Amino acid sequence: MPNPIIVVAYGLLLLLPLRNPTCRAATDTISAGQVLAGKDTLVSSNGKFALGFFQPNSKSSRHASNWYLGVWFNTVPKFTPAWVANGDKPVTLPELAISGDGNLVIIDQSTKSIIWSTQANTTANSTRAMLLKTGNLVLQSTSNSSHVLWQSFDYPTDTHLAGAKLGRDKVTGLNRRLVSRKNMIDPAPGMYVYELHEKNGSAWFSLAALNSSIPYWSSGEWNGHYFGSIPEMSGRQLIDFTFVNNEQEVYFTYTLLDDATIMRFALNNSGQVKILLWVERAQDWVPAHTNPNDHCDVYGICGPFTICDEDKLPYCSCMEGFSIRSPDDWELEDRTGGCMRNAQLDCRINDNTSMMKNLQVQHWRHQAWCGFPASHWPEGLAGNRRSCGG
Ligand SMILES: *[C@@H]1O[C@H](CO)[C@@H](O)[C@H](O)[C@H]1NC(C)=O
Ligand SMILES: *[C@@H]1O[C@H](CO)[C@@H](O)[C@H](O)[C@H]1NC(C)=O
Ligand SMILES: *[C@@H]1O[C@H](CO)[C@@H](O)[C@H](O)[C@H]1NC(C)=O
Ligand SMILES: *[C@@H]1O[C@H](CO)[C@@H](O)[C@H](O)[C@H]1NC(C)=O
Ligand SMILES: *[C@@H]1O[C@H](CO)[C@@H](O)[C@H](O)[C@H]1NC(C)=O
Ligand SMILES: *[C@@H]1O[C@H](CO)[C@@H](O)[C@H](O)[C@H]1NC(C)=O
Ligand SMILES: *[C@@H]1O[C@H](CO)[C@@H](O)[C@H](O)[C@H]1NC(C)=O
Repeated sequence: MPNPIIVVAYGLLLLLPLRNPTCRAATDTISAGQVLAGKDTLVSSNGKFALGFFQPNSKSSRHASNWYLGVWFNTVPKFTPAWVANGDKPVTLPELAISGDGNLVIIDQSTKSIIWSTQANTTANSTRAMLLKTGNLVLQSTSNSSHVLWQSFDYPTDTHLAGAKLGRDKVTGLNRRLVSRKNMIDPAPGMYVYELHEKNGSAWFSLAALNSSIPYWSSGEWNGHYFGSIPEMSGRQLIDFTFVNNEQEVYFTYTLLDDATIMRFALNNSGQVKILLWVERAQDWVPAHTNPNDHCDVYGICGPFTICDEDKLPYCSCMEGFSIRSPDDWELEDRTGGCMRNAQLDCRINDNTSMMKNLQVQHWRHQAWCGFPASHWPEGLAGNRRSCGG
């Protein structure tokens, strides 16, 4: 006869929602009832990729309690995420689990709320998440592992891994594209987009600022062998690739010729797409290919009121008389704030109606009036000052 205390204790455990797990997630899979928290990781069966929570390596306290769920290169000593689930929704006390509806969810234990979910239309009532050898995190049915309900390869962040498709599913409208991260440490979506376009049978990749339809770089059209502006592709060193364009979908995908190669294709927050190779001797990622080649060819790379000079280091600087608007962000290579005038222009709206009535130009009433503030009037112009009405 079973010990009643154990039975009661077991019953209590079942009642606890996703807390005090009875068993920890092991290896590459997380199933219903298991959780991933703290420094726990899933590791793909070939050891190449790991999934877990991470904190950006930051000295600034601004990001100190921000945790993200990500997949990273497990064999590389320099921490490099290849995918991030909740880039725009950092969490303070995270836990990963399979929720009651079969979705994979991130729960914030400090607020007990679900902050991210795979949001799959789960008809299977038994699911599990598995980190595949390719670095793809999939939510699959336990009764049929080829029945994939959701996969991270469908929602790439800034990295295109071997085996993933970049492009559009014409039936569902799903568009898999790369978006750069906000800055060197913040994985929130940033300023640039790399995506596949298709029109009237031709297809090409472009780089553009988010929300802009005007690209600053194009791969050239697919000519049956490679994209027009990247003839180097025809060499097929390192990778083999496939381009597909049919009624259902249009996409580009690649595989590694040598599985031992550690490579990533990423849209850097500098607005450039790079093929990077892990070089053991250098203990670092070394770019093998960069497009566009010059930083200064990237739209708005230095921000407003700046000068981009490819031959200088750093290549971004402020226009004369301007200084960096947000030095913290600039330091992290987020220069969207650009530079600002050292001396603010002195602007005011002339609302003196009685004066305007006299002038019979009522509709000019709200015109802003600008001038240099008295203390910063440019020296050479001092003589003109009075005649400008300042
Ligand atoms: C979800 O599945 C149900 C039942 O199969 C279907 O009726 C519905 O259209 C699906 N919704 C989406 C968004 O795919
Ligand atoms: C879901 O689970 C219930 C109870 O275990 C079972 O009766 C039912 O057949 C399952 N449904 C599906 C679609 O697997
Ligand atoms: C498993 O799922 C795949 C993909 O949805 C489907 O094609 C296959 O028929 C399923 N197998 C079984 C035995 O249900
Ligand atoms: C589409 O392509 C066909 C054949 O290449 C060409 O004749 C036609 O003018 C194109 N249409 C547009 C809208 O570009
Ligand atoms: C792009 O547009 C979306 C929605 O209109 C907006 O929320 C977002 O801030 C825009 N991003 C940029 C970089 O302008
Ligand atoms: C992006 O490119 C810049 C300049 O080429 C480089 O300094 C930086 O390390 C790159 N960032 C990442 C995340 O690779
Ligand atoms: C508005 O303009 C009138 C006529 O030029 C002037 O007399 C008056 O002092 C002005 N009022 C203010 C508040 O500047």
